[in-house]
Amino acid sequence: MKRVTLPDGTSVPALGQGTWMMAERAGHRAAEIAAIQAGIDRGLTLIDTAEMYGDGASEELVGEAIAGRRDGLFIVTKVLPSNASRVGTVKACERSLKRLGIDRIDLYLLHWRGGVPLAETVEAFETLRNAGKIARWGVSNFDVDDLEELGDVTDLHGCAVNQVLYNPEQRGIEYDLLPFQHTARMPLMAYSPIGQGGALLTSPALRTVAQRHDATPAQVALAWSLREGGVIAIPKAGSVAHAIENADSTRLTLTAEDIAAIDAAYPPPRRKQPLAMI
Ligand SMILES: NC(=O)c1ccc[n+]([C@@H]2O[C@H](COP(=O)([O-])OP(=O)(O)OC[C@H]3O[C@@H](n4cnc5c(N)ncnc54)[C@H](OP(=O)(O)O)[C@@H]3O)[C@@H](O)[C@H]2O)c1
Repeated sequence: MKRVTLPDGTSVPALGQGTWMMAERAGHRAAEIAAIQAGIDRGLTLIDTAEMYGDGASEELVGEAIAGRRDGLFIVTKVLPSNASRVGTVKACERSLKRLGIDRIDLYLLHWRGGVPLAETVEAFETLRNAGKIARWGVSNFDVDDLEELGDVTDLHGCAVNQVLYNPEQRGIEYDLLPFQHTARMPLMAYSPIGQGGALLTSPALRTVAQRHDATPAQVALAWSLREGGVIAIPKAGSVAHAIENADSTRLTLTAEDIAAIDAAYPPPRRKQPLAMI
């Protein structure tokens, strides 16, 4: 399993697990919990959730999945921009801790930029860090100009990651954001790395590469997202079979020929593109 080093020296697995859209259907709950646990058993120990997902229900489901096995896990959750004030962030964090059933969040992210001044949210994050409620903080859906503004109010080394949309269909960040983060030594957390299970998985280019390696298109997409280091991908799997398939992608190394085939189907950006979001 590839690993990524955060600015504070902490090492995390490059492949984790997302949980958006989980806990939405009661009949799927047991399968979703089993999927998260199967992923953990195969090294996908970084788990991403958010207070927004299911209005807290995803955090509760993660809490249930990790109960009694917290050690060695790296739990990421996010504060909504509307809660990201000096006081609101602290209250939101307390609620997330309770739903997750843990006493410290490993990484707490601002879900996207809202109306609260960044300095205020950062101050709240630092208050939470000093109180031991979070181990570190980061941001999500920030473009280069947002990170530059963040750098005006705090030392960018304090920001552990920026979590953004990244997969072969959505690679605009390679033009400027990804290089900016590499230079700043800020890992990028790639969300929707398998294109939300949509058209990407039936792409002829990914299918061809997958066949060459006796792999699946989802595994190719994951190996592609992690091909250069400094990136953490967080696919969401709602079944044990998908969790195992995703974990097994770590055995796959793409060749120059594979990368070229994917570039031909999904050309890298040649100019600045607005940051894509879901
Ligand atoms: N910060 C943000 O604004 C933001 C935005 C979006 C997402 N995220 C985070 O990133 C995570 C991942 O993104 P995502 O959930 O949007 O999309 P994703 O991980 O790219 O795709 C998830 C979809 O792919 C399917 N899938 C999973 N493994 C598969 C496999 N091996 N083969 C075929 N299909 C497979 C899943 O189906 P099953 O459920 O049936 O397995 C699900 O429908 C989220 O869960 C969330 O934690 C963050």
